[in-house]
Amino acid sequence: MTSRDTAHNRIEVLHGVNLDTLGRRDPEQYGTFTLPELETKISRWAGELEMRTTFFQTNHEGEFCEYLHRLPDLADAAIVNAGAWTHYSWAIRDAIEVAGVPFVEVHISDVSKREDWRQDSIFDGLALEKISGEGAEGYHRALEIIKEKLGA
Ligand code: DQA
Repeated sequence: MTSRDTAHNRIEVLHGVNLDTLGRRDPEQYGTFTLPELETKISRWAGELEMRTTFFQTNHEGEFCEYLHRLPDLADAAIVNAGAWTHYSWAIRDAIEVAGVPFVEVHISDVSKREDWRQDSIFDGLALEKISGEGAEGYHRALEIIKEKLGA
């Protein structure tokens, strides 16, 4: 651990189901960038803000929950885009509540302007903030919000 790591600057970026297919999804909603390209941008933005990011993606709900259980040991705050699980997985809501790690919910597309089933989020009342429809830039804003609110 370096002295910087004691400064509460470890940010875990969690991507859920289907986010590994970025670059092949509807470009109108998700742009054309791939997940590795997105992660490179996020790391760069984090570096500029003196934060350190690590990344996790899975298409398996149980694995996502197990990772959330370990989150308090791994990170001081998180950015979570749970994909479609956002709209129905009470298991993930319970797991993030157990983790107790502050987080910002991010969606690349503007879920408020899409289908009815995308209007609900299992993170309501738990997330520091919800960012939706800002594309990759939404992750930059999420980092800034974490920095501002937690002094990360
Ligand atoms: C998403 C929006 C969800 O409704 C969708 O199921 C996703 C991605 C987004 O980033 O815009 O997979 O979370």
